[in-house]
Amino acid sequence: MTDYQTIVTAARGRVGWITLNRPEALNALNVQVMRDVVDAAEAFDADAGIGAIVVTGSDRAFAAGADIKEMEALSGSEMLMGDHFGGWARFAAVRTPVIAAVSGYALGGGCELAMMCDIILAADTATFGQPEIGLGVIPGMGGTQRLTRAVGSFKAAELILTGRHFGAEEAERAGLVSRVVPAADLLDDAQRTAEAIAAKSLPSLYAATEALDVALESTLAEGLRYEKHAFAGLFDTADQKEGMAAFREKRAPGFTHR
Ligand code: CAA
Repeated sequence: MTDYQTIVTAARGRVGWITLNRPEALNALNVQVMRDVVDAAEAFDADAGIGAIVVTGSDRAFAAGADIKEMEALSGSEMLMGDHFGGWARFAAVRTPVIAAVSGYALGGGCELAMMCDIILAADTATFGQPEIGLGVIPGMGGTQRLTRAVGSFKAAELILTGRHFGAEEAERAGLVSRVVPAADLLDDAQRTAEAIAAKSLPSLYAATEALDVALESTLAEGLRYEKHAFAGLFDTADQKEGMAAFREKRAPGFTHR
């Protein structure tokens, strides 16, 4: 395992773990965190021994946003020309399913990081929010776009324009969270959920995460065309033959991830 400055990584079975580790700043996302998370996620993505990734923080904070102190003095052109948050696109593009296990604060960039993942599991104590409006800016790591797609335009507008914090139950009701779990169970639940996913065939997982992304980016007709070809493509994998033979023979499939 690589030694990182701002995160801790571990492989537990076929599950890769990325734990944000800047407790002094409530896991605020500075450029080093972005580099570390992207590097770790891409390394897990390239490893056929990993079938799901969990991103988490601490009990107190998943992440309290982009690092305000790091970006405060930047000019607009430095922000733009330096593509300050650009690296996160590589994290969002990871094909291996990614679960955000959120406890504590998921604010600003923290909420946006969770929304780059495929599944959001929230501890019942989690606090979400896009408070950037109170800093004289707007969400800058995808919040205006991904929150709107997750919860609808009127709910997103109220959350982004007031910047108010909201709890896990409200997040789940709004469709921002996949499932709320008791705080004490969060990490075990994330591991169990990730193991259940990682036991599936990797080619079908890749196809599913990409098709889910296409659903957010395309018209229905384009998305359905994409799905038709992605579905057909899986019939050239060994795992499709194995999965369907196992069903017919009434046994568990032995996927080889090919
Ligand atoms: N950036 C930098 N440092 C941060 C931070 C952030 N986003 N959030 C917290 N910290 C630091 C604090 O400055 C403090 O450091 P010091 O001890 O050196 O002062 C330390 O973390 C602990 O924080 P608090 O003392 O504030 O802890 P608290 O329990 O009183 O409050 C909190 C917790 C409500 C989360 C509060 O820290 C807070 O409001 N943080 C900022 C949240 C925010 O505005 N996030 C959006 C950032 S902008 C953004 O994300 C842009 C984008 O879309 C990409």
